[in-house]
Amino acid sequence: MVVSFIAYIAGASAFPIASENLLPWSAWFLIAVVINIVLWSNVMKLLTFSLAVIWFYAFVASLVPESSTAVNLTELDWSDPEAVAEQGALVFNGKGQCSACHTVDTSAPPGRCPDLTDIGVNAASRIPGMDAKTYLIESLYFPANHLVPGYGKIMPEVWKAPIALSHVEIQAVIAYLESQGGEIDPTPFDEPIDRKDTATAAAALPPLLTGDPELGKKVFVSAACISCHAVKGIESPAADATTTDFEVVTAPDLSGIAAFNDMRYLEESILLPSAQIVSGYGAVTVRANGTTYQGTLVSQDEKKIVVRTKTADGVEEEHTILLSELDEEPIEELTDLQANGYFTLTLTPADADAPVTGEIVSETEETVTLKVNGEDKAFSKTDVKSMMTLIDFDYNEIVGEYVSGTMDDEIVLIVDGSEEVFDGWDLEGATFTRASGKKLLVTSPMPENFPLLLSVSDMSNLLSFLSTLTGATAEAASESAAEGIPAE
Ligand code: HEC
Ligand code: HEC
Repeated sequence: MVVSFIAYIAGASAFPIASENLLPWSAWFLIAVVINIVLWSNVMKLLTFSLAVIWFYAFVASLVPESSTAVNLTELDWSDPEAVAEQGALVFNGKGQCSACHTVDTSAPPGRCPDLTDIGVNAASRIPGMDAKTYLIESLYFPANHLVPGYGKIMPEVWKAPIALSHVEIQAVIAYLESQGGEIDPTPFDEPIDRKDTATAAAALPPLLTGDPELGKKVFVSAACISCHAVKGIESPAADATTTDFEVVTAPDLSGIAAFNDMRYLEESILLPSAQIVSGYGAVTVRANGTTYQGTLVSQDEKKIVVRTKTADGVEEEHTILLSELDEEPIEELTDLQANGYFTLTLTPADADAPVTGEIVSETEETVTLKVNGEDKAFSKTDVKSMMTLIDFDYNEIVGEYVSGTMDDEIVLIVDGSEEVFDGWDLEGATFTRASGKKLLVTSPMPENFPLLLSVSDMSNLLSFLSTLTGATAEAASESAAEGIPAE
């Protein structure tokens, strides 16, 4: 019995219980079982039973697909595009980290990243004149080039470290995205990037993190970041103990912030919070049908916005507002229209009788280009008829087209088709509008004075602290990062 038992163990250890050894191990095991059951009695039956249990577990384990992060795609077999899409799904849910941000499920609550249901069809209509495949390629290599309306510049360039997808992996992911409602296009494409260039550029950057994370954690608490942002393991102050310098708002949980965001993004989030606003957290004030809504921009698409407001007694309300319902705001100066949130403009060119309205396409210092009835037209910002509203001492308002003059002297307006002269001394005030437009300006609720409050060393300690926040989903990301990024 002892001899056969030793043979048993020796045989088992010759083929460790791992999925690739399952066949030889199982064969050896079965033979051993048969011999032992024939030769030996009860004790052996018990032992056999326990080994059978181990075999059963090994068998079940081998049925579970390999952990998807372990998939190493080096070649694609385009004779079966569906199979390529399936490999792409593994990259999507594994190494690509896509599923950490994106859902492919319309019933999932909207998050900070767009849901990708039907992206295979939708990709074709995102950018006029750009086909679905080109759009998907651009989305993966240069995610910041065409931001989906309402979303910030959060998506990492997935071909760079830490995610570092290869050309082959990106092809598979694109096939998977195409398969979401669209057609898989097996035509190969060249990468729109040069991987060698970026490797040297990345190496040339100076190391960014020289701070002390422990001190940074203290800054995080003393600078009151903790009042708005939750971080696992740090206690949030009691609501009444928080600072009165700013209004505490709902803000993203930062427990995993460093997993997918580089340090430059984090630095910008603190120093220039409105440069990129996390979708669903921006602050907005809009006027529609005469009512002003001030609150959080919950979501936005080409046609409508959803704004969450809070009444004085703390009750939250959500309002869906069509962009077409927004009121036109008077504009005094035609400068930085887009930066000020204007997306439509109504102006009257000097040589025209009627005003023109269009969507703002682009602007320079001298001109603004509007899309009027589907066509782009450039208008001079200076050759524009202006309107003036005069207010006399009885608070009567007179509105007319401005011709000339100032309050110090005489003002000439065209009122109801005829020129009239007003003496500046008879007037209480005058307002001047060059145009009007619809406006949607989203700002960050984060205080803007951190650049002043935080010293350089506070800032570098804070960034070092933030870089330690890789959260639960981050382990896989930092594993692959370890391959791509030299240790500090
Ligand atoms: C850190 C979060 C994050 C990760 C990781 C991420 N994305 Fe994104 N992605 C975004 C955000 C935010 C947007 C919207 C802004 C933009 O267009 O860049 C976006 C946009 C997209 C779009 C355009 C969607 C549309 O509706 O037009 C595609 C396609 C996409 N991502 C695919 C992927 C794939 C594939 C991966 C994995 C290889 C991935 N993303 C990883 C955040 C992420
Ligand atoms: C008044 C509340 C408030 C305070 C205080 C505050 N934040 Fe924020 N923060 C926000 C909100 C709201 C957002 C999301 C909107 C945006 O992107 O600006 C945000 C966004 C961020 C982001 C980007 C998060 C993401 O998911 O991409 C980072 C990083 C950040 N804050 C760090 C900090 C740090 C560090 C401090 C302290 C120095 C701080 N914040 C203080 C409200 C706050």
